This record gives sequence, structure tokens and C-alpha cells, in this order.
Amino acid sequence: MNEPIKKIAVLTSGGDAPGMNAAIRAVVRACTYYRVDCIGVYRGYQGLIEGDMESLSARHVSNIINRGGTILKSARSEEFRTKEGRAKAYENLKKAGVGALVIIGGDGTFTGGLKFIEEFNFPVVGIPGTIDNDIYGTDNTIGYDTALNTVVEVIDKIRDTASSHNRLFFIEVMGRDAGFIALNAGIGAGAEEILIPEKNLGLDRLVESLDKSREKGKTSSLVVVSEGDKIGKNVFELADFIKEKYPFYDIRVSVLGHMQRGGSPSCYDRVLASRLGVAAVEALLDRTSGVMVGITNNEVTSVGFNKAIKMNHDINEELLKVAEITSV
Ligand code: F6P
Repeated sequence: MNEPIKKIAVLTSGGDAPGMNAAIRAVVRACTYYRVDCIGVYRGYQGLIEGDMESLSARHVSNIINRGGTILKSARSEEFRTKEGRAKAYENLKKAGVGALVIIGGDGTFTGGLKFIEEFNFPVVGIPGTIDNDIYGTDNTIGYDTALNTVVEVIDKIRDTASSHNRLFFIEVMGRDAGFIALNAGIGAGAEEILIPEKNLGLDRLVESLDKSREKGKTSSLVVVSEGDKIGKNVFELADFIKEKYPFYDIRVSVLGHMQRGGSPSCYDRVLASRLGVAAVEALLDRTSGVMVGITNNEVTSVGFNKAIKMNHDINEELLKVAEITSV
């Protein structure tokens, strides 16, 4: 670990997120700036196991800052969960003369990174890239802001048709076990009710809220349901339940799905990714390992993988209040 780092590898793993390319670009260019070689690993940890890598120069990452997805591709590798798989990955890194690794992804990615450090004492730094924003140690993960804007744009369109037909819409959004997308996009799109896993409001509360909306003369309603919410676990069943209780409602369900992961990254995500890409390379060159770099209160910070994975990134209670007040 005390030899100078001459080559850094970078990979993207887990669900892709808009802004991952901007992060790859920043890592590659920071390497160029600090005169370190950079190598891109394809398909995340699986590519590491198979030795699927390619040297990247600053010019290889031209014209990608604006592109969604990840030029390095992404995967969830079962083999990397095994000791044998990780040993193959380590051998390939050594063979390629790589001295340190930047991993871009979410908690599964960091869990893999942690294991790798424990077993091989190999320097690894993480960059949070997931639309879910469910990582502790950064105010925002890369891709979250773009996903929010995508969701709001789509809900605005759904609002047009909901209003024309006096309909009640249940709109399911991603986020895995976290409600950040639902809560913030719900507020941004002016939803009547927002269902998130962190605050299980229960069916009674939803029914009460729909009753109130009708009493106040609302002719159409938008309910944003986080995919991880308990009562919204199956949004179609939820819609059926409400239809049975209130047959007069003309109900439709819209599951937004993977469109939330695509598209050109917002300026916010591009800047975030650029800052974190540079910070990750600088951290490795400073001999730091086992941390995820993040931005907290507009400052670059770092937090151990253990904390990033295990601690909760709390839902802001004030947002819940704002959602309630602004939907009267
Ligand atoms: O973690 C990102 C995410 O898009 C989650 O919001 C969602 O639950 C999951 O990935 C979907 O995964 P897949 O692309 O494997 O269907």
C-alpha cells in the first residue's frame, strides 16, 4: 500500500444513474491531471473478474458529460459475492498494474468494495451513484436530481389528463426502500398524497385524505406511491381497494419504471459528479481508502463505507409538513 499509485481503475456497478458518465469523465481527467494512468472496467465487478478492462485517456471521455447511462456499462455480479470471484478480480487488477480502484454505485457496490479491502488490503474509494438517494454521507447521490426532474415532468403530463377526465391517479415511482424520490417529486409536482416507506401512513390516512380532497371540491387527484411503501407494495391492489370503497372514482395507475433512470443528467448532477470524481482520485492519491466521497452542505466530505451503507439517510420531517400543508 505504500508504493506510489501509478494506475487507477474505475467501474460503475448496480443500477445505472444519470451522471455516472460525468463521474467517469472526472475520474479519468483527474488521473490525467495528476499524471496517473486510468483504466476503465466494463460491467462493474463482473468485468473485474473477467479482466474486461481498457485504458482510458482524457480524450476517451470526450462528449460524455451530457449522456445518461454509463459508457462502462453496469452489472450486479453474483460471482463477486464469492471469495473466489473476488480473488480473480484482485489478480486481474495486479496483472494490469492497478494500484487503486474507484467504484461508482450504491450500497451493494460499497459492500463489495468493503469486502475487497478487508480481504486484499487494496485501496478503494467510492462515489455515490444511484437515483434512490439512499446513501448516508452525502446530501445527494449522483442521478437523484435528474430522476426527480424526470418524474416531475412526467407527473405534470399525467396531471393534464387526470384533470381533463376528473380522474384519480396512483403514480408509482422508484426508490427501492427509500421514499426520497416520491416525497420530493410529489411536492414538486403538487401531489395530493405521497406514500413513502419511512412514514407508513396506512390506508385510513389515505382514505381520509381522499375524502377531504373531495369535500374541498377537488375533481382530480394525484397520489405518488414509492415502490417501497408498505400499503403501496402493489399499487394495482391499492387502486383496487380504493375503487371498491369508492366506486365513483375513475382510477388509473401509472408505474413510471425505468424511464426514471435514463436521460441526460441535470446540471446539478453533472457538477456533483465532476466534484466527486476529482475528490475520489485525490483521496486515493492521499492514501485514503475505504471511504465514500460525498457533498454535505456544499463541502466535499468523506465517510467510511460501513457508515455509508448502514446508517440511514433521514427523511426531512419539514418536507412531510410542507407536503401536507400545500395539498390542502
Ligand atoms: O437502485 C436503483 C433502482 O432503480 C431502484 O429504484 C429500483 O428498485 C431498482 O434499481 C430496479 O432494479 P432493476 O433495474 O434491476 O430492475
